[in-house]
Formats: sequence, structure tokens, C-alpha cells
Amino acid sequence: MNILVTGATSGIGQQLVLDYARQGHQVIACGRNPSALAALEAGNPQVHSIALDVTKLADCKMAFSQLPFVPDLWVFNAGVCEYIDEGELDSALVRRVMDVNFFGVVHCVEAMMPYLKEGQHVAVVSSIAGELALPRAEAYGASKAAISYLIKSLALDWHRRGVLLSLVMPGFVATPLTDKNDFSMPMMISVQEASQQIRQHLSARRRFIYLPKRFTTFLRLVALLPYGWQQKLVQRWILN
Ligand SMILES: NC(=O)c1ccc[n+]([C@@H]2O[C@H](COP(=O)([O-])OP(=O)(O)OC[C@H]3O[C@@H](n4cnc5c(N)ncnc54)[C@H](OP(=O)(O)O)[C@@H]3O)[C@@H](O)[C@H]2O)c1
Repeated sequence: MNILVTGATSGIGQQLVLDYARQGHQVIACGRNPSALAALEAGNPQVHSIALDVTKLADCKMAFSQLPFVPDLWVFNAGVCEYIDEGELDSALVRRVMDVNFFGVVHCVEAMMPYLKEGQHVAVVSSIAGELALPRAEAYGASKAAISYLIKSLALDWHRRGVLLSLVMPGFVATPLTDKNDFSMPMMISVQEASQQIRQHLSARRRFIYLPKRFTTFLRLVALLPYGWQQKLVQRWILN
């Protein structure tokens, strides 16, 4: 299979590239960090790298016009996390997070449109944080809720094109992104485990991929409660 992964220079994206290449797939690793891209290519003839900043639509269009092959599976995974402290809303911070997590995916999808073919599979890495309001996550949670909505809506419109869209909703995964967190992260899984679960669910062509199962099921159940109850539970667990 031919696969493209964005955000391939670190964490989940990097692990997916290494694992898919090890399985013999041809992988295009996209990212901004040239030395991390070179390291992925070194000793991995199945890996081809392309420099790409997803916040720039022109970069995405240029990069996708130069691919060595058309991917069967596109994994739009690049993302950032920044927290709001003490509810002090900061529009510049919100814009930075939205630029990568929301518009970054929108740019990638727009740029891939000329190469879209029946039978292809597009996976977008969102987050379980988009399904439940959490403290300090005003920017990150909103960006993930927005991209999840956009992809669910797009899946309805792409249904007739024969293109499968999958949404990946991780809980906590140990990566440089979560290394920065200064709070406890229940049921966190390793990046190897995350890659294994994502690859398994993508090959089963699942549209909604929640991992790890127990933690994300619990949060999804809380998200079904009346909002006042959700708020009380979250305040009790996290703010006390
Ligand atoms: N780790 C978790 O617990 C967790 C949970 C839920 C969802 N997620 C989601 O999973 C995805 C991967 O996260 P991760 O944990 O693997 O984080 P990570 O290790 O920090 O990796 C993030 C990747 O995104 C890339 N990226 C950031 N901004 C970019 C830009 N403007 N253009 C192109 N690439 C850019 C980074 O590249 P640079 O090196 O160039 O910055 C890096 O390769 C993200 O969408 C994240 O929101 C993670």
C-alpha cells in the first residue's frame, strides 16, 4: 500500500511511518523538521520525505503535486497543543492552535482533492478532548471538536465518491506533546501501542477509532450526561 503521513517528525506520526515501512508499505513522511525527515529516510528505502508546513495552503498544494506516487491512505496527523491558564483567553494562542489542528487539516484535504480517487482512505487524527469540555483546553478542545465536525460532515458528502474517511480519537499517548503536561494522565499508552491500534483499526476500515478503549469509552459516556452533570464531574476530578 502507498501511504502519506503528516506530522511524521515526532510522536504518533513518526511511529506510524516506521511501523508501516517495516511492514513493507511505501510511505511518504511529511513534516517541517528536515533533520528528523532525513533520519526517517536513512536506512529506510520505503520512506520518502517531503517538507510541509500544514498551516500554508500553498505548501500543501506544492508538496502534493510532487508526490512520488498517489497514496491509497492519507493520514492527516500533524497537531499542536497549547493550554489556556486561569481562563485568560488569548486570541493569538487560539489562532496558533486552530491554524494547525483545524486549518492544517482543511489545507491538506483541499490540496489532495485533485488526486482523490475511488477506493482511497483518508484518516484524520483528532482527539477525545473534542468530545468533552475540559479545563485549560479552550483552544485545543475547540480545534479538535471543530475538525471532528468538519470530517463527519465531509464523510456524508464524500459518501458517493467511494472514499472512506476515518476519525482517530486518542486519549493520552506518551509523545513529546504529552511530555509537556504537568498533570496526571490516566490510562496513558505508549506511542508503539497507539500506532498498533490505529493501524489495526485503519486496516479494518473503521470510521471512528477510539483508543485506548476503556478510557475513551468512559469519557464518551460522561459526554452523554446532561451538561450540568458533566461539568460537576469534570470539576470534581480535575479542579479539586
Ligand atoms: N499524544 C496524545 O496524547 C494525543 C492525544 C490526542 C490526540 N493527539 C493528536 O495526535 C496528533 C499527533 O500528536 P503527537 O502526540 O504525536 O504530538 P507530537 O509528538 O508533538 O507530534 C506532532 C507532529 O505534528 C507536527 N506539526 C506541528 N505543527 C505543524 C505544522 N505547522 N506543519 C506540519 N507539521 C506540524 C510536528 O512537527 P514539528 O516537529 O515540525 O513541529 C510533529 O511531527 C496531533 O494531532 C495530536 O493533537 C495526541
